Amino acid sequence: MTLFETVFSGNDAVYGLTEGAINAAIEQHGADKAISFPNTAYSLPCYYAVTGVKVGTLGELKEALGVVKTLMTREMRTHDIFMSGVATALCAEFIEVLKYIDGATPYEEPCYGHLADAVIRELGVPLVTGDIPGVAVILGKAPTTEDAVALVKSYQAQGILVTLVGDVIDQLAEAGMKTGANVRVIPLGKDVTSVIHVVSVALRAALIFGNITPGDAGNLMKYTMERVPAFVNAFAPLNDVIVACGAGAIALGFPVITNQEGVSEVPKSLIVQTDVSKFNATSLEARDIKIKITNIDIPVAFASAFEGEIIRRGDMQVEFDGSRVDCAELVQTVDASEIEDHKITVVGPEADEMELGSKNSIAYVVKVAGKNMQPDFEPVIERKFHNYINCIEGVYHTGQRDMQRIRISKDAFNAGFRIKHIGEVLYASVKNEFDAVVDKCEVVIYTDPAECTRIRHEVAIPTFDKRDDRLKSLTDESVDVYYSCILCQAFSPSHVCVVTPERLGLCGAVSWLDAKATNELDPNGPCQVITKERPIDERIGEYEDVNEAVQKFSQGALQDVSLYSIMEKPMTSCGCFECICGIEPFSNGVVITNREYAGMTPLGMTFPELASMTGGGVQTPGFMGHGKHFIGSKKFMKAEGGIERIVWMPKELKETVAERVNATAKELYGIDNFTDMIGDETIATDPETLVAFLTEKNHPALSMEPMM
Ligand code: SF4
Ligand code: NI
Ligand code: NI
Repeated sequence: MTLFETVFSGNDAVYGLTEGAINAAIEQHGADKAISFPNTAYSLPCYYAVTGVKVGTLGELKEALGVVKTLMTREMRTHDIFMSGVATALCAEFIEVLKYIDGATPYEEPCYGHLADAVIRELGVPLVTGDIPGVAVILGKAPTTEDAVALVKSYQAQGILVTLVGDVIDQLAEAGMKTGANVRVIPLGKDVTSVIHVVSVALRAALIFGNITPGDAGNLMKYTMERVPAFVNAFAPLNDVIVACGAGAIALGFPVITNQEGVSEVPKSLIVQTDVSKFNATSLEARDIKIKITNIDIPVAFASAFEGEIIRRGDMQVEFDGSRVDCAELVQTVDASEIEDHKITVVGPEADEMELGSKNSIAYVVKVAGKNMQPDFEPVIERKFHNYINCIEGVYHTGQRDMQRIRISKDAFNAGFRIKHIGEVLYASVKNEFDAVVDKCEVVIYTDPAECTRIRHEVAIPTFDKRDDRLKSLTDESVDVYYSCILCQAFSPSHVCVVTPERLGLCGAVSWLDAKATNELDPNGPCQVITKERPIDERIGEYEDVNEAVQKFSQGALQDVSLYSIMEKPMTSCGCFECICGIEPFSNGVVITNREYAGMTPLGMTFPELASMTGGGVQTPGFMGHGKHFIGSKKFMKAEGGIERIVWMPKELKETVAERVNATAKELYGIDNFTDMIGDETIATDPETLVAFLTEKNHPALSMEPMM
């Protein structure tokens, strides 16, 4: 059979199955039966992205199938292959959505099925920083279980996000390999149609970050081709349906690598690699993915894929716990003459001398020296420790400063991992990432309890106190410059964040100090200095210099932006914001919700629905994406009256930000315990109940001027 015949026959087969399934569902439930995927504002995501039409009922699904049929042209041109591939993918989406009828949960451990919008937003930052350099879609059954494990591990070690479809899932389970989003290996499902759940992620990324108009299929495919670094590994034997799905992947710009002999190859798109051990290299080359290599001399793996790994009590060799005993982690700037580069010292017992399962003290001091080093960069470097130590396979880290907690697993210990290796990791990572400011670096790790107490109380805490005073004195007024951040332009081509001391980047990961350090490390990089010498309107925080900067960095897409208003010229969003804030008209206030909260808000919208109101670098008055830390800022919506406008937040978020919010409310308005006046999901998820609660609490927003 020619490639044409194979794709057409696969497409026809899937179309037939889909038609049958939809008809059967209509017969059973009626045409008005509602259908959707959970936790997305774009249902059905793929069909909506391609056609611009939302499908909400079985009847509409049947109509949509008619539209899909029109894509299935048979004129024997390359275009027909691609369109039949897309049609096959859409059919797969239809088959999959039928599984979710009546709120069913068709996928069970370890499979995920449909992935929520929140997952895609979370992927934003790691994808743009190259922390996740690519997305692999592995389909079918590897020649052997060992081949399957080796391939997945090779991607994992590179930080590549792996999604799995079909028998390979059982192969990994059989080998006892841990899977899950936290280790970047996501089994989608056993049926080939479940591959649509990763396609759905790519297409929603275009809508969320790329400001692609749903229905603009040309730009949609251009976006996935240029900006989503995905590729497919399809194991032999291939059947017509898999080939037809593969044609859909190729249409989106994702190359397909297979070990099926005799397939007619298409350069850079359909590649035969009979040696499965070379799938990794062939795929990276085909998709032009470059891997940053950090060589660290430790006996276990070091990769960002292990960042989310959790070590249970029963699996741990030893533990260090700053909440129980004296611990600390600290970066200290010293004179170059005082240290020896790459010297690592352990003062106190090594892991061998600690009892199995015991809780111990640890304090590590990373001494750095360099001509361009500034004390302001110390906390920036220090905050990365969490991420560095977590990337060690079999080691887990939470917390910071003197409240960190570390676990070393039995597996890592048995592989030879010792405390001194934490020093190796810190040394190599700091030298690697901060080479522009750190010329020399030495690490001292204390495990002797008396020394830990001394370091914590006499060295670390005084340093932290000094830094906190410095942070408090950092206000938008007290500094001479702000910074731009355009890191997210990889996905959101016209988005610019303006980062100020009192307004961090909306992803929550870039503070003014971070931006300053980034600028110092890479003067031509994503963070540039913005002067603030020519104010236009102090009330909304508008400056001529800031406007000129956003015009330049957005390539003219954005003309003017305010720092302190949600209504007038608000800052744009890319899509990876931690929180979204939107106007609540009945109370004159605003509702904030965060990515982790899956429930309903009084606006009648969930996080993904609210989040879909803004993004792609476009200004949307009334909606604002922002970082969690911004909520307690005196500059939060200052133009509209500030945090006094906040009427509702999910309970957990409210608890996280309560201390700062209450302090700010006390200082600005003289209100005590302001968060007690703010509603949450245990109080109200509809406007009537919320307003009744706010009235009872005499919430200040009720008597403020209308926002619209
Ligand atoms: Fe993206 Fe803004 Fe965060 Fe920079 S500060 S990474 S542009 S969200
Ligand atoms: Ni103490
Ligand atoms: Ni972003």
